[in-house]
Amino acid sequence: MADPASRSGRHYFDADILEFAARVHAPHDTALARAFDAPAAHGLPAIQLAASEARAVELFLRLAGARKVIELGTLAGYSALRIARALPLDGLLVTVEASDTHADIAEANLAAAALVVAVRVARGKALDVLPTLEAEGPWDAIFIDADKGNYDRYGRWAAQNLRPGGLLLADNVYLFGRLLEDSAEAEAMRRFHEESAAAFDTVCLPTPDGLLLGLRR
Ligand SMILES: C[S@@+](CC[C@H](N)C(=O)[O-])C[C@H]1O[C@@H](n2cnc3c(N)ncnc32)[C@H](O)[C@@H]1O
Repeated sequence: MADPASRSGRHYFDADILEFAARVHAPHDTALARAFDAPAAHGLPAIQLAASEARAVELFLRLAGARKVIELGTLAGYSALRIARALPLDGLLVTVEASDTHADIAEANLAAAALVVAVRVARGKALDVLPTLEAEGPWDAIFIDADKGNYDRYGRWAAQNLRPGGLLLADNVYLFGRLLEDSAEAEAMRRFHEESAAAFDTVCLPTPDGLLLGLRR
């Protein structure tokens, strides 16, 4: 059920409830804990997904039967590890990262996880790397979690390069509460919402900062 308060944006979780739910439904083994803790351990910004959101991405990909997946924004490899674990044995994940420092740490974390599926960390800005991935398409899914001002461009690429039924996932689509502001970044994010809704069957899930989910028509 929902009630007028929750429909208006009130939520019923706090830090303790989030922690309980993550512990029950999205527990960390050694490899996940290493990747999750890596940003703090290496002095990187700790802006990886929350445990429950990363688990949701994994389960959505499993539901979609995704085999070939792209991630934009690797950081230390935490969400990449969840994505890789959603894939079948012949699966492929290409995760794109602009920072060599982040990519180095992510590669070490992914190697430590002893994954069976193929995972490539592609170094460079997503707008430069994406065209190089077109020949390997069509892709089954993309998870967008990089620079927010380019989400509209990433969404257009996804509309062109995902197979029908392919899955679009994007985090931070409330833009940290700035979605409706008058700024170039907010305009780009609103375009991303609108253009995605035109090309995909979409929903914006009200996670703390919004998770957009779309199925390519
Ligand atoms: C929010 S973090 C990614 C977190 C990661 N998905 C996770 O949950 O573990 C965003 C990452 O995107 C990278 N990034 C920013 N702009 C980028 C761009 N234009 N192309 C590729 N990566 C970019 C940043 O260096 C950072 O590592």
